[in-house]
Amino acid sequence: MTKKLFIQTYGCQMNLADSEEMAAHLLSRGYSLTENLDEADLALVNTCTVRDHAEHRALSFLGRLRQWKREKDGRHILFAGCAAQRLGEKLKKTFPYLDLVSGARDIDHFADLLDKSGLFSLQHGGDLPAKGVTGYVTIMRGCDFACTYCIVPSVRGPVHCLPSKDICARAAQKAKEGFPEIMLLGQTVNAWKEEGKTFADLLNEVSALPGVQRVRFVSPHPAFITPQFLQVVENNPKIARHIHLPAQSGSTKVLQEMKRGYTREILLEKIRALKARGFAISTDLIVGFPTETQEDFEQTLTLVEEAGFSAAYCFKYSPRLGTPAAQMPLLREKVLEERLDILLNKVRGLADDAYAAHVGKEIEILMESPHKGRSSDNFWAQTKKSYTIGTIVKTVAEASDGTLLFTRD
Ligand code: 5AD
Ligand code: SF4
Repeated sequence: MTKKLFIQTYGCQMNLADSEEMAAHLLSRGYSLTENLDEADLALVNTCTVRDHAEHRALSFLGRLRQWKREKDGRHILFAGCAAQRLGEKLKKTFPYLDLVSGARDIDHFADLLDKSGLFSLQHGGDLPAKGVTGYVTIMRGCDFACTYCIVPSVRGPVHCLPSKDICARAAQKAKEGFPEIMLLGQTVNAWKEEGKTFADLLNEVSALPGVQRVRFVSPHPAFITPQFLQVVENNPKIARHIHLPAQSGSTKVLQEMKRGYTREILLEKIRALKARGFAISTDLIVGFPTETQEDFEQTLTLVEEAGFSAAYCFKYSPRLGTPAAQMPLLREKVLEERLDILLNKVRGLADDAYAAHVGKEIEILMESPHKGRSSDNFWAQTKKSYTIGTIVKTVAEASDGTLLFTRD
């Protein structure tokens, strides 16, 4: 009987892709996947540390695994990702039953790490189940920015771009395996470059590969929304019309203190340029940065109105050890909570409005099941007829319920 692997992933799309990569190495060492922890022999916990809460959840899950490990002989625990990178081997002091720690930066030599541990040996296991229509391809790792609230640069390290020929080979392989949509991944994905090539050039290359029908990417930084990028997307309909563009704040003063590298006006200009090219824009916003005044906060509220985001993920500022902002005095928790509440109320209606705005319009949906697919600008749609999974259907949205478009065909 093959041994079973259970994976718990916290955090961003990068982590999901890393989990997939780690799983592939484990499957070639005799494991098959299970979604049931009780029948697992190995628990892989891939963690996030971007906010204290994310790290806390991963650590409390690890705490629960103590009992799980006791219940059956031969069980192992592997703790990976960003929290593992931050806390390192000292984790084994608090959690002595932990077998292996593999930080986010170890991903490239994960196979070596497994082999050195002596716990695993190469043999045939199960295959990764092909799920959905989207194939994830990591194109860069790390971040060269130094946003004052953010722990990512210290955890993930400086930017390292993968060569375009490896990226294209990987994307072509994914398309061949039946993923018509390719999602390019990186911490600051659009900072990707190589000699003579920009991210926009890479988008063109990947979208021209046989079998690739649509290309998405996450997470971009506003600094790299360049005129060349705008021109390339304008001429390339395979580039999906959705962008997740983290704004973080609507106040130029706070943006400067965060060291984001843009002002409110520059950001709004880029947002307008993207919208003029048919993009829906979602964003991340932080409330309660240490220097945020009531006025600054109100600027974030008006940014939401002016930008017309299709969705906004809102976070309370969380001080991260070693970051410059963590040295500043915190605002009172009550203020953070109030501001988060007000902002959440403000963004609650965004999806409804964005869905409603599609009624009567043409949409192109990539089918993810016989009756359901996603539009290029990332809205879910339900069709009347049944279609083959992985095909693109051009139709018209006739109605919306705020979470789903209902199409004519
Ligand atoms: N506190 C709160 N939110 C943060 N983010 C990053 N660092 C912090 C922090 N210290 C948010 C940003 C980023 C998202 C992934 O997490 O909005 O875009
Ligand atoms: Fe963190 Fe800023 Fe880099 Fe994004 S761009 S990962 S927020 S430092």
